[in-house]
Amino acid sequence: MNRMPHERAVYIETVGCQMNVLDSELVIAALKKQGYTLTDDPHAAGVILFNTCSVREHAEEKTYSALGRVAPIKRDHPETVIGVIGCMAQKDQDHIRTRAPYVDMIVGTGQLSKIPSLVDEVRRTNLPQLAVSLGRTDGGRTEIEASFESYDPARDPEMRPTPFQAFVRIQIGCDKFCTYCVVPSTRGPEQSRHPDHILAEVRTLADQGCLEVTLLGQTVNSYVYDHGDGRRTRISDLIARIHDVPSIRRIKFVTNFPKDMSNDLLDAVRDLPKAVKYLHVPVQSGCDTILKRMKRLYTVAEYREVLARIRERIPGVAVSSDFIVGFCGETEESFQKSMVLVDESKFKNSFIFKYSERPGTSAAGRFPDDVPDDVKRRRNHDLLEVQDAYSLIDHRQWIGKSVEVLVEGPSRKGHKQTPNGPGGRQLIGRTMTDHIAVFQGQDRLIGQIVTVDVIDAHGFTLYGEVRINQLAGLPTGSAITPELPIRPRRIGLDLL
Ligand code: 5AD
Ligand code: SF4
Repeated sequence: MNRMPHERAVYIETVGCQMNVLDSELVIAALKKQGYTLTDDPHAAGVILFNTCSVREHAEEKTYSALGRVAPIKRDHPETVIGVIGCMAQKDQDHIRTRAPYVDMIVGTGQLSKIPSLVDEVRRTNLPQLAVSLGRTDGGRTEIEASFESYDPARDPEMRPTPFQAFVRIQIGCDKFCTYCVVPSTRGPEQSRHPDHILAEVRTLADQGCLEVTLLGQTVNSYVYDHGDGRRTRISDLIARIHDVPSIRRIKFVTNFPKDMSNDLLDAVRDLPKAVKYLHVPVQSGCDTILKRMKRLYTVAEYREVLARIRERIPGVAVSSDFIVGFCGETEESFQKSMVLVDESKFKNSFIFKYSERPGTSAAGRFPDDVPDDVKRRRNHDLLEVQDAYSLIDHRQWIGKSVEVLVEGPSRKGHKQTPNGPGGRQLIGRTMTDHIAVFQGQDRLIGQIVTVDVIDAHGFTLYGEVRINQLAGLPTGSAITPELPIRPRRIGLDLL
């Protein structure tokens, strides 16, 4: 393709977690304020950004191969500004410069607000620009915190998963230091945002037509804001305040740290009707020796207690988890304990990852990555098989029941044929327990919460029919146009 790139057109690819999706939204919002427009064609872009993830080696390799793909663009149009931003930029500046010397801009997680001025700087000086936060061992805590300070006020609906769903950061960084994990060094120390700032942002989002907010933090349930005058705002208090914003219909939060699962939070989820009855509570392993080596700060028995308490306090709640297989020293016996835990825990779903050694983490320095890759692969497969068998049971128990679905849009995957019903096309949405539901309906249902009768289910999907009275009763052309704007490229985990 030989199109001339437009200086004020920006192309962005996002890898990794929801935090990155949110960061990309904020970066694009800041650039749009400077007159930029979003493009889904890198050849048409004057600025090409890669928002990166370091949590596993695989994610990093994806970015390096994406950088390889844009090398010819840079060669043909040297004025194109190429930026690597986010976690890899924070952690691997030198490596990026070696592997992709044509990168113009490397911007860490805490410095993203500087991107518009850094682009100008690249263009003015023709020199590469670097902006990263202080490393966790490079200064006092206050200094490091300040260097990681984030900004969230500028929002951009075009970048959202859908126009009526948005992420809201309530906490940045992490202080847990699980031995396998790179996040404490890429995202810096844990800091909770002022609840008034969060509330103001939620109100802005509500004014933009947002119905569902997902509160984000690496250990979101440890959120607590100390006002300095004896008052403390916990996440349960925060959810209660957000609950009072009239047009917000659903409140979710991810991800939880098992040990910080307090009863006030569980009671808030149970009692507040807008709180989604779904908790993502990663356990990582079913073996105490491994949990200890991971420095997860709880035992399997304690995790079981947390799970039992969650289910006792919030009847009908759906829980999901994360597991790492093949962590250093994981024997067959250790792994079998994860199999037992998955088998008994009745998770709606689990995200299962092969251990990926991350340079700079304490596990990388202390324990050999001694489980061969084919063993990791087999364990991943075996664990998923047990989980999938339960996911099917979990989903099938909804058959014959009705669920409230926030309709997100047309279903993109070729789902199995749903009954034709009253026309329209296949739509997809999520229930109050975070189950995916697929049904046939008119586009005007997109952005509405509708009742769906579940008539069939697979391991990841409920299939149903929308209640007829809602088809007739809804205003036409309501709130959301089904013309979906450019949704930037995103590779990585399904949104939890
Ligand atoms: N290797 C494999 N998986 C990892 N995770 C975090 N660090 C690693 C690693 N080094 C997984 C954990 C976490 C999820 C987001 O990614 O399961 O919960
Ligand atoms: Fe990483 Fe552990 Fe923090 Fe989660 S809690 S971000 S796994 S260090």
